[in-house]
Amino acid sequence: MSLTFIHEWVPGEPGTPVFLLLHGTGGDERDLMDLAQAVYPGAGMLGLRGKVSENGANRWFRRLAEGIFDQEDLARRTSELRSELELVPQLFGLGDRQVVALGYSNGANMAANLLLSGFSGFAGAILLRPMVPGEAVEGSDLHGQAILITSGQMDSICPPGEGERLSEMLVALKANVQFELVPAGHNLTQQDLRLAQSWMNRLAHTSSH
Ligand code: MLT
Repeated sequence: MSLTFIHEWVPGEPGTPVFLLLHGTGGDERDLMDLAQAVYPGAGMLGLRGKVSENGANRWFRRLAEGIFDQEDLARRTSELRSELELVPQLFGLGDRQVVALGYSNGANMAANLLLSGFSGFAGAILLRPMVPGEAVEGSDLHGQAILITSGQMDSICPPGEGERLSEMLVALKANVQFELVPAGHNLTQQDLRLAQSWMNRLAHTSSH
């Protein structure tokens, strides 16, 4: 049994958290590796590649136009990814290491949709420049899941109001959400990195006590 998604696995140091990396449009499985190591040096990393190609650019699900998502495709791709993620702890021998989603833009939207559909395999999720991908699935309960969302004040691709609304939706599902507005556009900045570092250190520290 192995993953059907193209992926790259970096085991990292024993006992460290493991990031599940979900790239933005046009990225690939290696895209967020440097960022992940800057957020938490030595962490394990499983980078995945989205299966949708939009004129050659990798994505996690189809869109009809910028910011308008193909809901049927989104639902199908979310459940496919979810089934594979359920195999990850055993396939990669993760034991009790924390699995933390790290997603940017389209990848953050995919991670958000996994959460809204009630996936509970993450200890936490860092969603950088997300939107509201779709509706929450009734009965989803994210109690005990920690989520960091950063939105750029001047982001015209993923407007900050979307990040805020997503944050409210996740809070309604009982997740522990930290929402941050940074003075930036769609690109990530040093402030995103600093926020992710301190959030991640808290998460790793909490679970080891
Ligand atoms: C998307 O999922 O389409 C994003 O929000 C924007 C992008 O990835 O370009």
